[in-house]
Amino acid sequence: MEKIAIVTGAGNGIGAATAKKFAKAGIKVAVVDIAEDQAQKVVEEIKESGGEAMAIRCDVSKKADVESCITQVESAYGVPTILINNAGIGGPFHRVDEVTEEEFDLVFGVNIKSVYLFAHNLLPKMKELGFGRIVNTSSIQGMYGSPGSSSYVATKHAVIGYTKTIAAEWGKYGITCNAVCPGFVQTAMGAQDDEVDDYTKKVMSMTPTHTIATPDELADMMFFLIEQGYMNGSVNVMDGGITCHVGIMDV
Ligand code: NAI
Repeated sequence: MEKIAIVTGAGNGIGAATAKKFAKAGIKVAVVDIAEDQAQKVVEEIKESGGEAMAIRCDVSKKADVESCITQVESAYGVPTILINNAGIGGPFHRVDEVTEEEFDLVFGVNIKSVYLFAHNLLPKMKELGFGRIVNTSSIQGMYGSPGSSSYVATKHAVIGYTKTIAAEWGKYGITCNAVCPGFVQTAMGAQDDEVDDYTKKVMSMTPTHTIATPDELADMMFFLIEQGYMNGSVNVMDGGITCHVGIMDV
C-alpha cells in the first residue's frame, strides 16, 4: 500500500517536523497550511533532501478548502492513507465573559471542525482501501482546564472525544485513530525559539525534566503512531511530566 500523507499546519512547528520526518521515510506528503509561503518552504526543504512533497494552501476550517485540498492530493498522488490533523490556533486568551462569538467560532473552526471535515471526507475512502492512519493533535489542555483558554481547552478536549469515537467506529475497517497531547513545544505557539524568555523559564521550572519539547520529538511520536496497527483510540501525552504532579511540594 502506497503511503500518502496529509499533514495540516505543516508550514511550521510540529507539522513541519512531522512532514519532514514522513518524507524521509519515503512517504509522499501534502504539506497543508493557510500560510502558503511557509508550506512551500517546507516542501523545498523536503525536495532538497530527496523526498516527495506538495504544498497546498488550505484554511482547514473551510469545507470548500478541505475538499479542494483532498482532490489536489488525490490527483497528484492518490488517496491519502495517512491524515495528521495538526493545524491549530491558541488564542485569543480571554476570560469566558470576554470571549466574543467570533473568537469562539474561529478557534472551534480551526481546531475541531477541521478534524470533522477531513475525517468525514477521507474515512469512507480509507475504508475502501482497508487501511488508514489518523493522528489528531490535542494538548495537555485537552485534559485539564486552563484560565484564559476556554475555547482552546474545549476544542482540545473535543479532539480527544473525536479521536476515541473514530477509533471505535472505524477500527474494524483497518483504520486507526490516535491523539497526541504535547505539553510545551518549542514552536511559535509554544515558546520562543531563540531566547529563553520568562514564560519559557516558568514552564521549564514547573516541568519535572526542566525542558520543553522540540518539534522533532513530537514528529517521532506521530511516526510511531502511523507505524502501529494496534494503537487505536490512544491518548499519548508528551509533556516532560508536567501533568503528573500537583506542583505543591518538591524535595
Ligand atoms: P505553530 O503555530 O508553529 O504551527 C501551526 C500551523 O498551523 C501554522 O503553520 C499555521 O499557519 C497553521 N494554521 C493556523 N490556522 C490554520 C488554518 N485555519 N488552516 C490551516 N493551517 C492553519 O504551532 P505548533 O506549536 O506547531 O502547533 C501544532 C499543533 O500542536 C496545534 O494543534 C497546537 O494546538 C498543538 N499544541 C502545541 C503546543 C505547543 O506548545 N506548541 C502544545 C500543545 C498542543
